[in-house]
Amino acid sequence: MRIRLRENGPLVIDLPEGSRYRLGGEERVLERAKLALCRCGHSEDKPLCDGSHKRVGFVAAGGELEVELQ
Ligand code: FES
Repeated sequence: MRIRLRENGPLVIDLPEGSRYRLGGEERVLERAKLALCRCGHSEDKPLCDGSHKRVGFVAAGGELEVELQ
């Protein structure tokens, strides 16, 4: 699994499109092949990113993690 830390933005996890996940007891289906998680703390839809990082001028380094699941 690959996790990308977008420069000045969210943490992005690549998943197969149509993947299902639970959030607050609600099952959701991914409409795109990625899940973007807020790391700026200003999203109105936590833990998901809603683009608020741009409005607040969030600054953070980018990077990438490669995670091997067993
Ligand atoms: S990182 Fe996008 S809203 Fe927080």
